[in-house]
Amino acid sequence: MRASQSSDAARKKRVVGNWKMNGSLAANAELLRACSASVEAWAGAGVEVSVCVPFPYLAQARELLSGSAVRWGAQDASVHASGAYTGEVSAQMIAEFGASFVIVGHSERRAHHSETSALVAGKAAAVLAAAMTPIICLGETLEEREIDMTEAVIAGQLSVCVEVLGLDALAHCVIAYEPVWAIGTGRTATPEQVQAVHGFLRTRLGRAGAGISLLYGGSVKPSNAAELFAMPDVDGGLIGGASLKIEDFEPICRAFG
Ligand code: PGA
Repeated sequence: MRASQSSDAARKKRVVGNWKMNGSLAANAELLRACSASVEAWAGAGVEVSVCVPFPYLAQARELLSGSAVRWGAQDASVHASGAYTGEVSAQMIAEFGASFVIVGHSERRAHHSETSALVAGKAAAVLAAAMTPIICLGETLEEREIDMTEAVIAGQLSVCVEVLGLDALAHCVIAYEPVWAIGTGRTATPEQVQAVHGFLRTRLGRAGAGISLLYGGSVKPSNAAELFAMPDVDGGLIGGASLKIEDFEPICRAFG
C-alpha cells in the first residue's frame, strides 16, 4: 500500500460527486474547471472534495484537476486484475490515471448488474491492492425499511466486507450509506434516520469505526446538506444529481458547520 493511502481514507469531512453515466467532454471541462476554481475555499475549511467520473473521462479529470485540491475517481472496478474479461476495467488501470477513489457496490450496480456483497467486497480488495480508496456503498430498499429490516440489511452487507477484507483493511475504506429509496428520488432520509444508521455502522465497525469516514448519499442538495452533515456520525456526502451543477455542488461542499 502506498504511504498516502491511510490519509486518503482517514476520517475527515468529505464531499464526493458521483456523476453516474452523465457528461460529455465539453460539459465536463466546464464543470471540472469550476470545481477546481472554487476548491480553495473548501480545502481551507478542511473538506476534501472529489468527483467520480465515467471511465472515459478519467484522463480529462486528471488533466483538468492536476494541481488542484479536487481529487478524482471512478464508479466501479473489476474484481479481476487482468485477462479475458471483455468490457471490464481493472483497478490498476484506473490507478494509472491518478485516481484516488473508486465507488464499489453502488445500489444501481447491485440492482442492475446483480452485484452481491461478496463481489463488492472483492472489488474493494482490488481497489485497495491498486493503492486507491474504495468507497463502499450499502443501504436498504424501501420494502426492507418498512418491515424494519434496515439494521439487519446493513449489518449483513457490512459483515461480508469485514469477512472478506478484515477490519484492518476496512479501516482504509470509506463507507457510504445510501438508502435505495432516497437515491435520485428527491426523498431524502431525515438527519435522525441517517444518524441512526451511521451510529449503528460506527459501532459495528468496532475498533476500526473511529477512523472511518461515513458518508450519506441520497438526494443531498444545498437545502438539506447542512442538517445532514451536522449529525455527529455523518462525515459528508456522496452526491449524485447535485454534483452535476456547480451551483448545487459548491454550496453542498460549504455546508459543514
Ligand atoms: P442522488 O444520488 O444524489 O442523485 O440521489 C446519490 C448516489 O446515487 O450516489
